[in-house]
Amino acid sequence: MCGIVGYVGGQPALDVVISGLKRLEYRGYDSAGVTVLADGQLAAAKKSGKLANLEKELAARPLPSGTTGIGHTRWATHGAPTDANAHPHLDNSGRVGVVHNGIIENFAALRAELAERGHALASETDTEVVAHLLAEEFSSCGDLAESMRRVCRRLEGAFTLVAVHADEPDVVVGARRNSPLVVGIGAGESFLASDVAAFIAHTREAVELGQDQVVELRREHVTVTDFDGVPADVRAYHVDWDASAAEKGGYDYFMLKEIAEQPKAVADTLLGRIDAGGSLTLDEVRMPASVLREADKVVIVACGTAFHAGMIAKYAIEHWTRMPCEVELASEFRYRDPILDPRTLVIAISQSGETMDTLMALRHAREQGAKVLAICNTNGSTIPRESDAVLYTHAGPEVAVASTKAFLTQLVACYLVALYLGQVRGTKWGDEIGSVIRELSAIATQVDDVLGTMEPVRELARSVAAAGKNTVLFLGRHVGYPVALEGALKLKELAYMHAEGFAAGELKHGPIALIEDDLPVVVVVPSPRGRSVLHDKIVSNIQEIRARGARTIVIAERGDAAVAPYADHLIEIPPTPTLLQPLVATVPLQVFACELATARGNEVDQPRNLAKSVTVE
Ligand code: M6R
Repeated sequence: MCGIVGYVGGQPALDVVISGLKRLEYRGYDSAGVTVLADGQLAAAKKSGKLANLEKELAARPLPSGTTGIGHTRWATHGAPTDANAHPHLDNSGRVGVVHNGIIENFAALRAELAERGHALASETDTEVVAHLLAEEFSSCGDLAESMRRVCRRLEGAFTLVAVHADEPDVVVGARRNSPLVVGIGAGESFLASDVAAFIAHTREAVELGQDQVVELRREHVTVTDFDGVPADVRAYHVDWDASAAEKGGYDYFMLKEIAEQPKAVADTLLGRIDAGGSLTLDEVRMPASVLREADKVVIVACGTAFHAGMIAKYAIEHWTRMPCEVELASEFRYRDPILDPRTLVIAISQSGETMDTLMALRHAREQGAKVLAICNTNGSTIPRESDAVLYTHAGPEVAVASTKAFLTQLVACYLVALYLGQVRGTKWGDEIGSVIRELSAIATQVDDVLGTMEPVRELARSVAAAGKNTVLFLGRHVGYPVALEGALKLKELAYMHAEGFAAGELKHGPIALIEDDLPVVVVVPSPRGRSVLHDKIVSNIQEIRARGARTIVIAERGDAAVAPYADHLIEIPPTPTLLQPLVATVPLQVFACELATARGNEVDQPRNLAKSVTVE
């Protein structure tokens, strides 16, 4: 939440900062602002709304040129998304500028203290106190990095802070606790950003900042210390994707591009994980086999779409390993005092690797002695860094707020972990594992096949929008249930419609009362070749809702003759094994939501009120 950019170098800072903010706008788009250092002064501009508003403001009232600058794109926490609350925030002298991601929990006390000392605060934000505190510290020590360390020692909560001071014209200082911040190392220039995407066009050499560290950025070098000033060890890494991976590549929206990239993302996530003999090699996970063998239960923690991946993983883990597996919303997990011990294997799933709820859940689990395996898409992010082991998904950068390719690759990673557990614990024979791996390897082509047949789904979405419908229900059984939840989540976040997913069997216990004439109900039908009881039961459920007037939109396996007569709209998907069906059944739901949102005139990549990376609890 919130995107931050800092730059010091030889280029016009404003250009670098604005282009970086464009890449980070997915993190928040309630307001945007910049500050550049020019002629010994700070010059700032900020505007509520999207970055485009700030660009208009800069075109109307250009800032002087400078080579040091910071910028921010905001997802509002404290204070409405107004111009006054937009970052950067300046102190009363206008010589310190600060941008911030996170929440400073003790800001009210700090604010009162500053007011007593005569500071006038102009915004409702928690961030502004930092500008004033930095100004005070700077006046006593004359060093921005030291001032930042002193201020950070007083702050409670989660924060990434980036600051400049007019008296230190070639310096940008950053600090990090519980929120992401990466350093980019260029030739004679240095960058700071919430995500490498902001500077990938300039350099692919990055340095991770650890917890509670302060970085001083200069053109030729960066210095990292802890909050007490002790020099810190840092990990440098090379980013293995380039700027083109973060571009739209001819698509109208990132979401469309990311949906189309799913076959490759799925195939890439399997790459290097199957040896020449066809068996599974997850040595990169680096969790001793003994830990996996001795574990007596699995607990999965995740949020949103990643939580739905976890729900599906439960079916695979319990079926293939016979280990009990719980799945819990990360935001609820630690507050119910969960039963955890060193034999609990916790799996934390996160695309961004920065989701605060998931991070807090895994920290709680580790404090209780549990071992944590992260499934993550973002190299070097906090969740894998704080876990005992990690399996990376290889989806590439996911920019659209609505998660698509990350979900499919999370599923692939979950299946791999489930099979690996079965392999290590001996609950699955090698040939059984080999057979699932062959089925998984065929999925990329099947997803491609689904993508080639989506025009009727788009037409259907347009017709639902044209009919002015405001509610769509989603039903599924078994692994189709989390798929239904995922379809509903996509529609809520993109089309701003009332969309709810239900376990189809639960319908008769209440939700069936919602069914009325012509209500669109999407039903995910399990394979008729799998456990026939599942299939037959859902065919009955479809008849029940149809009898009450529902307009049925049925996602079913190609050639499923038993369900076709009850489908007002039939969306066919290729035959897959029951457990793997979510990999293909989810795709039409993504396309449906994207098209419906477009038809309703919504912002597909940046839905209202949301942000891609949710770094507050
Ligand atoms: O980065 P994470 O996977 O931890 O994010 C979790 C959720 O915030 C995320 O999946 C969210 O629900 C998506 N916007 C859904 O499309």
